[in-house]
Amino acid sequence: MRLAAAELVESREILPGQWLQSFHAPALATGSRAGQFVHVRPGDLSGMVLRRPFSLNTTDPSTGIVTIHFRVIGRGTDWFTRLRPGDPIDMLGPLGRPFEVAPRSQHLLLIAGGLGMAGVRMLADEAIRDGRRVTLLFGAASAREVYPSSLLPDEVEYVVATDDGSLGHAGYVTDLIPEYEMWADQAFACGPVGMLRVLAGQAAGRRERLGVAKLGRKGGNAKQEPTGSPAARRKAFLQVSMEQNMGCAVGACLGCVVKAVDGPPLRVCREGPVFAAEELDWESAWR
Ligand SMILES: Cc1cc2nc3c(=O)[nH]c(=O)nc-3n(C[C@H](O)[C@H](O)[C@H](O)COP(=O)(O)OP(=O)(O)OC[C@H]3O[C@@H](n4cnc5c(N)ncnc54)[C@H](O)[C@@H]3O)c2cc1C
Ligand code: FES
Repeated sequence: MRLAAAELVESREILPGQWLQSFHAPALATGSRAGQFVHVRPGDLSGMVLRRPFSLNTTDPSTGIVTIHFRVIGRGTDWFTRLRPGDPIDMLGPLGRPFEVAPRSQHLLLIAGGLGMAGVRMLADEAIRDGRRVTLLFGAASAREVYPSSLLPDEVEYVVATDDGSLGHAGYVTDLIPEYEMWADQAFACGPVGMLRVLAGQAAGRRERLGVAKLGRKGGNAKQEPTGSPAARRKAFLQVSMEQNMGCAVGACLGCVVKAVDGPPLRVCREGPVFAAEELDWESAWR
């Protein structure tokens, strides 16, 4: 983690109220991994004290460019839209734990709900670079909010669901899972917590439904990996990226905790934002 100087290169509204911004930030473009995030400080004259967390949407070590994709929901995100090319900003990152792909996983299923696209977008680049096949299931309320396919690598199979049926499958993106769960070696999701809860339930029943083997050691005597470890994520069929309101983003304030199935609460900024779905208590009132 480091405090990196960044300079806005390009800013555009890609969907109503949703912005894609490119920053020249070579220190972050190298060494960051999919699933990690940056904590960005609105400028001195904004009157805002707290940084805002954003997923690293894409990074390009060859140009030093990192992008973030965000929806305007309050003062901070509105302030970012008024940045102009050349404006400096500082970013703390990369923060948090990344997605972990098992070496033998060839078919990756990415599932994004709305702005959750920003959480999984970079994983598509990494997977394709590593020669894996990627299907990305995307859910939105209507066609107006569907992420443009032109912003995805050509190699990605992109499948859309809209709640109102105005584009693609009519219904929730989670309806599409049964078609792909046999094909997928692992799945990675980001989006509203209700969507993640449904996906966690689907993943929990998958092994019995399909009669598939668990990732990891063969022979059914796989050792138990410590909760929150990269190895536990790598073995999980489903990894989720959680978004909680954050204060410090460095593990000190406990403002971002989620409840674990076993053990103490987990800090999204330190133990997450990516978790194996089976590590989290999805029935808990505070997640
Ligand atoms: C790890 C992580 C990664 C994130 N990545 C992205 C991203 O890539 N793109 C993106 O658009 N957003 C992302 N977010 C959410 C983003 O940080 C907030 O939308 C942003 O901080 C809001 O700032 P604001 O000043 O505009 O709104 P505020 O004025 O701070 O808040 C406006 C309203 O939104 C609510 N709110 C604020 N933050 C969140 C949150 N995290 N979850 C739910 N409600 C919230 C507030 O309670 C309030 O009601 C991420 C959050 C986390 C924790
Ligand atoms: S935001 Fe402070 S502990 Fe996570």
